[in-house]
This record gives sequence, C-alpha cells and structure tokens, in this order.
Amino acid sequence: MGMGGVGQDVALQRGYQDRWTSIPVAMLRRSRGGGAASASADPVHSSSPSLFPTPYWYPQLRWVFVITPTHRRFTQRLDLVRLGNTLGHVDNVYWVLVEDSARRSHKVDRWLNASMVQHWAHLWRPTRGRWQVRGAQQRNHGIAQLRQMINEETDQALRKAYQDGVVYFADDDNAYDVALFDQIRQVRSLGAWPVGLCGGHFVQRCIVDPGTGKIVDYIAWNARNRKFPIDMAGFGAHVRHFLSPDSPEDVPMFNVSSMSGQLESDFIDGFGIPLAEIEPLGDNCTKVNVWHVRTAVENFTRYSFDELFDV
Ligand SMILES: *[C@@H]1O[C@H](CO)[C@@H](O)[C@H](O)[C@H]1NC(C)=O
Repeated sequence: MGMGGVGQDVALQRGYQDRWTSIPVAMLRRSRGGGAASASADPVHSSSPSLFPTPYWYPQLRWVFVITPTHRRFTQRLDLVRLGNTLGHVDNVYWVLVEDSARRSHKVDRWLNASMVQHWAHLWRPTRGRWQVRGAQQRNHGIAQLRQMINEETDQALRKAYQDGVVYFADDDNAYDVALFDQIRQVRSLGAWPVGLCGGHFVQRCIVDPGTGKIVDYIAWNARNRKFPIDMAGFGAHVRHFLSPDSPEDVPMFNVSSMSGQLESDFIDGFGIPLAEIEPLGDNCTKVNVWHVRTAVENFTRYSFDELFDV
C-alpha cells in the first residue's frame, strides 16, 4: 500500500486529483539554471499509488525524500507555508510530513491538499512517554513508512529510482533555498553542509582540509562534546542505509531518549561512518543554503487560536 493512501482518499473525495490530469505548469517550469533537473528531461507517468498527488516523475533526476516532523502551534501553518512553497518548486521531491498527533489534523490536511508540493505523504504519530526528544518518534515513523513504500513499490523503474534516493530531515521551521536540493542529490553515502544562524554561530559548518578535501573539524555548538557536531538540517544520507528489509532494527534510527543536544550525533553515529569519510558538500562547506529561523512568538498554545482564526 502506498503512503499516500489516506490523503489520497480524501483528495479523490474532494476532487483535488482533477488538478493533475495534465502535467502541472509548475513541473514544466524548470528549477533554476544549472540544476540537475535538466531542461531536456521530460517527466514520465506512473500509475503507482505512491506517487501522490502528481503521477509524474523525472527518470533523470535522483529522488530526495524529505522527512519533516510537525506539531500544532500558532506558527505551524506559517512555517509549513514557507517550506511547502520551497518544495513545490523542486521536482522528484517526496515529502513525508509526520504530525505529532494522535490523528490527522484537518488544518494540515487541507493545507497540504491545496499546496503545490508534487509528491507527499501525510502521516501522524503521537509522542509517547515522558522525556522524549521532540520529533524523534515522528522521524522514525517517517523512516519506517518510507522503507515500506520503497520495498513494496511495484513500478520497477520507479522502485529502482527510489532506491537511489537521498533522505533529508527538514524541520518545518527553517528556511531552504531550492539550490539545497541539487546539493542533496550529490550525496553518495552520507554528506554534510553548512547551516546558517545555527547553535550560536552565523554559520555552523564542517572544515575541509584543502590538501585532502576531507572533513577535519567542525565549527559548531558544543563541538568538543559531540562526536558528530552536525545539525538536523546539515546532512543527508543515501536511502539504501534505511532499506534493509531483513533487519529493520539495524538501520539508523533516532534514539527517542538521546541526551539533550545529542540527537543528531547519536543518529549519525548509527551509520558507522567516520567523520573524515562524510562528504563535504556545499562548495566544501562554504555555501549556505539552509538557515535556522525560529519564528518566535508568544506562546498562544493554551488559547484556542485556530478556532478563533484560520491561521
Ligand atoms: C574542494 O576542495 C578540494 C580540495 O582542496 C578541491 O580539490 C575541490 O576542487 C574543492 N571543491 C569545490 C567545489 O570547491
């Protein structure tokens, strides 16, 4: 069963699918010049249920699987709008949006269906247990569903393309340049790049030895006490690391009880790749294509803000 299942039923009910009976204009407009989405490549049609809502994809272009945990708050739609507007411009992006919620929220569902994001799955998973790292269970749920979707894909060409994709964990409150996705597509096994305005630094980044071209150090928050001082937004991994159908428990997963500040480091440790073997991307860790933003507002959560306003 495809991940789009639930959203798909809803979309069909509401007739949203009608929008995609021809190739959307957004897909024909190429992303910025020089990107991997070359102007000569045409999209192909697939009837796979996983390709929801747009039944077209680009065989020449690697897939990027974007896993995003999200939770209800005053700025949720604001943040989702900004991320969705970026993703809507990028071809062969598969967005796995996982709500921290016991049920699908109508607001998020309504917004997703109206968004221009070409391929998405809407999942939900409430955080269980105390002292859990926020978003960890949702990211793990996204990984598990992605593995299932790819391993069960029946369109052989699409499955093969999925199996060469890259996984990226995009939190919903950052700002992303569309150029980041071309950078993510360069990942061969595990790649890292700079993140702007992160952890008390203008730029949190890897340091590359000009002689060897390898990562030798990091300028980052608490770099001395983290084995891999890399932010959630600052790395991508080949999807093959997550696909082992025989022993899913052996694939890298987020530790829901990681110590404060150690979530990414613990997770990256699970790949078994030494720091010096991580691929430095973003022009040898000098080009910033993603920034922390932190839409800071008063905490309205105890008010029923989304009953008062459609926000
Ligand atoms: C990165 O650094 C290596 C080693 O100095 C160099 O060979 C390579 O051209 C650099 N790449 C970019 C994109 O700047």
